[in-house]
Amino acid sequence: MNTVQLNDITLAYIDRGTGPVVLLVHGFPLDHSMWDAQIEALSKEYRVIAPDLRGYGESSLGEVDDAVGVPLERYADDLASLLNALHIEGPVTYVGFSMGGYIGWQFWRRHRDSVGALVLCDTRAVADTDEGRAMRLKMAAHVAEWGAGKVAEAMEPKLFAEQTRTSRPELVADTRRVITEIDVRAIAAAQLGMAARVDSTPLLTDINVPTLIIVGEHDVLSTRDEMRGIAEKIPGAKFVEISGAGHMTPVEVPAAVTHALLSFLRKLK
Ligand code: MLT
Repeated sequence: MNTVQLNDITLAYIDRGTGPVVLLVHGFPLDHSMWDAQIEALSKEYRVIAPDLRGYGESSLGEVDDAVGVPLERYADDLASLLNALHIEGPVTYVGFSMGGYIGWQFWRRHRDSVGALVLCDTRAVADTDEGRAMRLKMAAHVAEWGAGKVAEAMEPKLFAEQTRTSRPELVADTRRVITEIDVRAIAAAQLGMAARVDSTPLLTDINVPTLIIVGEHDVLSTRDEMRGIAEKIPGAKFVEISGAGHMTPVEVPAAVTHALLSFLRKLK
């Protein structure tokens, strides 16, 4: 991986291939490796940038107030700083998975000129319910004593389709290993940031770049009905459902996600 010093952090990122830039933004509590299959395939035609968000994978967490965590705006600004540091001036295709999608709404709001196209994968536009927010605050308060392994265990049934868990246990084990190694402070910081996020639904009708919405058939965290609703609000958005996948579509059915991305990207050229 490459690294770059950005303000208070060292950010690690993959930078592979040449051509129009595709920025792949991972979900919670993961790192860039959830995109391994897409990095491999897309980098044959595109310049793929896949960072580890602050505190995740090989990126440092930086100066964080443990009572506030990392607001989603700050992750979005880190991504803009990364593009800036790499002297990428033109608009990019922003691809965000789940928390990477929540960050995507902020990236769109704050760095609109940098967005040529958007891909939202298994994510949500609404804010948390009171119950969802309370669960995040509970995890933020207790993850240091629980350890990241417990977070992995608790999340597994929601991340993967039942079918994946029984027939592809090695995929589930790979993700568990990634989560288990994440710094508990980074987990708490992201939970506080996600808990504080506002409803992004009002932004949707204003999105005026080509947009692709991808969702796993069995996603229970960001359901296909909810994602279809997002697609219906964004003018001209394309909607692709990945059969057999749960929430972790890029990992569970990588070829279908890569195919959807390539079909979309090739039309932008
Ligand atoms: C993710 O996959 O990024 C998370 O499930 C998002 C969330 O906790 O809402």
